[in-house]
Amino acid sequence: MTKVITYGTYDLLHYGHIRLLERAKELGDYLIIGVTADDFDKSRGKINVQQPLEERISAIRATGLADEIIVEEYEGQKIDDIRRLGIDIFTVGSDWIGCFDYLQEYCKVVYLPRTEGISSSEIRAGQSSLRLGMIGYSSFLKKFFRESKFVNSVKIVGICVPKDGILKELKPEMELYTTDCQTLLEYVDAVYIHSSPSQHFEQCKLAIESGKHIICESPIAMSIKECEFLVELAKNKNVILMEALRTAYITGYSRLVLLLKAGKIGRIISVDAVCTSLSIFGDVETNMKWGSLETWGPTAMLPVFQILGTDYLEKRIFTLKDEISGNLDMFTKIDFTYSSATASIRVGNGVKSEGQLIVSGTKGYVFVPAPWWKTDYFEIRYENPLDNKRYFYQVDGEGIRYELVAFSNAVRNKTSDYYIGNNVTLEICNVMNDFGCKKDNKF
Ligand code: CTP
Repeated sequence: MTKVITYGTYDLLHYGHIRLLERAKELGDYLIIGVTADDFDKSRGKINVQQPLEERISAIRATGLADEIIVEEYEGQKIDDIRRLGIDIFTVGSDWIGCFDYLQEYCKVVYLPRTEGISSSEIRAGQSSLRLGMIGYSSFLKKFFRESKFVNSVKIVGICVPKDGILKELKPEMELYTTDCQTLLEYVDAVYIHSSPSQHFEQCKLAIESGKHIICESPIAMSIKECEFLVELAKNKNVILMEALRTAYITGYSRLVLLLKAGKIGRIISVDAVCTSLSIFGDVETNMKWGSLETWGPTAMLPVFQILGTDYLEKRIFTLKDEISGNLDMFTKIDFTYSSATASIRVGNGVKSEGQLIVSGTKGYVFVPAPWWKTDYFEIRYENPLDNKRYFYQVDGEGIRYELVAFSNAVRNKTSDYYIGNNVTLEICNVMNDFGCKKDNKF
């Protein structure tokens, strides 16, 4: 019996795939099809795949061409599979010519002519992409624009700046450059907001009322009332309102939260998150600066509320003002007390500390080294170091591209709280509000 194996992503299965599989089948008596796992695709930079693994496997199964389907999860797996499964022929399309010659040591390698004129990428590109506008003045928008080019379901077409001349480098790249939000809103399907946190509420409200989907830097409002209002309004208007908290969309971080929920370190006793930066965040072009809690608070609160929930009993806020401006908080520490756990966040803008995340439990603890908010690595540590486990994940583009993929998927599937629950969004606004009102503050 001649055993043949072939691999692919098979996103949005098309006739190019089917023709390849039919010819692969004819090469032998038994065809094994390897379908790439979502994580494996992400780690090799294929972030635009639309269908999850289960759907792609079902589509392959429905062709009736596979005698066996396996999942490809790691680099180098092909050699393992060929040996383990006793493969005689490895085959892929001619777009891979030369890439798999190294497998000739283990079996015959056949490159089949690729079908011209069709690919998953072209199908995805042909689908209408989300026309996105940007609102704000931060130079971060330049980075956001560059990163958006990796996401083919989104196209940034316009920008609204507070004053002509701001972010003028982006002007030639935009179909629309304006100082009027309403003009931008009429031109796009959705907006990304990265302005001063105190402007978020008005800008989100305007966008929702215009029926536009929103991805807004966190906090989306500076009070829980405003936040509740926006969440409700978005629901009624049937638009997506998503928080641009990049950490939440990074695979390493979301896997960490799942492992904790699955009890890997026992009952969780404390969560301690530190986020600081020496370069004062804000924007040089407009000379607007943000305090430490505005800059880092939502990111630092994310693991606290996602791991321990939002029903804490009390919080205590300690904050230090920046000596020069006298009104911005330079360093803030918040302690949260839960009925059987505790948490603390420490944030600084113009102060530097070790940006680590530590989650302590009754069986062990999790250590995420700095900068934990770009989680590409973490360790679960136990009393006996031999039991320790290390986890590695690929992070590209600081998480911006993952966030944009999640946003376009949310718009397509009409669900936005898959990554960040509404309770977390609301509680972040609540803490910002209490901080602003000096409730629970100890100066
Ligand atoms: N293939 C083919 N003809 C095409 C497209 C793909 O023969 N027009 C083959 C590839 O060479 C590979 C298999 O189908 O052996 C699975 O390819 P995959 O990468 O999943 O499909 P693409 O359409 O190339 O996907 P993408 O555009 O995302 O790269």
